[in-house]
Amino acid sequence: MAAPKSNIVLITGANQGIGFEIAKKLAKEYPGYHVLMGSRNAERGQAAADKLLAEGLSVEPITIDVTVDSSITAAAETVKSKYGRLDVLVNNAGIEVETKYPQGSKTIREVLQETYDTNVFGAMQTLETFAPLLEKAEVPRVVFVSSHLGCFGKPDNFPGQWPVYRSSKTALNMLLLSYSHLYKEKGWKINATCPGYLATNLNNYSGYGSVDTGAINAVRLATLGKDGETGTFSEKEGPLPW
Ligand SMILES: NC(=O)c1ccc[n+]([C@@H]2O[C@H](COP(=O)([O-])OP(=O)(O)OC[C@H]3O[C@@H](n4cnc5c(N)ncnc54)[C@H](OP(=O)(O)O)[C@@H]3O)[C@@H](O)[C@H]2O)c1
Repeated sequence: MAAPKSNIVLITGANQGIGFEIAKKLAKEYPGYHVLMGSRNAERGQAAADKLLAEGLSVEPITIDVTVDSSITAAAETVKSKYGRLDVLVNNAGIEVETKYPQGSKTIREVLQETYDTNVFGAMQTLETFAPLLEKAEVPRVVFVSSHLGCFGKPDNFPGQWPVYRSSKTALNMLLLSYSHLYKEKGWKINATCPGYLATNLNNYSGYGSVDTGAINAVRLATLGKDGETGTFSEKEGPLPW
């Protein structure tokens, strides 16, 4: 296996929504980047990759379900055998299910477990499993796709809504801060982005913004160099409070 010249990027949940847009923007605007488009479903992943391959972009699908450890490990084995390292991990896969189930059909514990399994445990396990491959990159970068709904310090338009989802993003932000301290001396760039409230499957397309704008700050963070920031939380307009 020859060491690849490209930056190898893995984006979880890249078969639709913001993850797909991050893959598209990165592959379009950064020819030196090769994007592994994560999808928990192989067919959906292939279909999404086909759209970008048809545009001549440097992408490939990879199956990864962040709630299944064996799936994460298998994806890491694939990346290891093909490329020997990972330069950028975008922890994008996320769900909001508390508004999706009919009233009373799930206990709050079940909703919490399902949400945290993807949004928090999945992101942390994926980082842990890929850490040895990130370690081999010149400038390892990790982007957490978080939400301003997880901030303590930003008043928002939805007070009291989605407590499960928003607390999962608060937890994710603490993970990001912890990991950024842990890997600071080694030069890793670990940051979180809020894409904005955008029309995607996650919110039944009720978001205001166009989904491609969600990729702007994520791509900036994914392409940071040696002097780039770490341990930050921002949106495309600038820094966000925790
Ligand atoms: N949309 C917004 O307004 C907004 C605002 C702030 C933050 N965010 C965050 O942005 C990220 C992307 O969300 P989105 O809005 O683009 O929603 P989306 O269109 O529903 O996309 C979510 C992606 O995550 C994948 N996914 C879900 N569970 C997974 C699992 N267990 N393993 C691997 N992949 C999984 C989905 O796969 P399937 O296609 O198989 O379901 C899909 O590809 C999430 O972290 C979300 O919290 C979104």
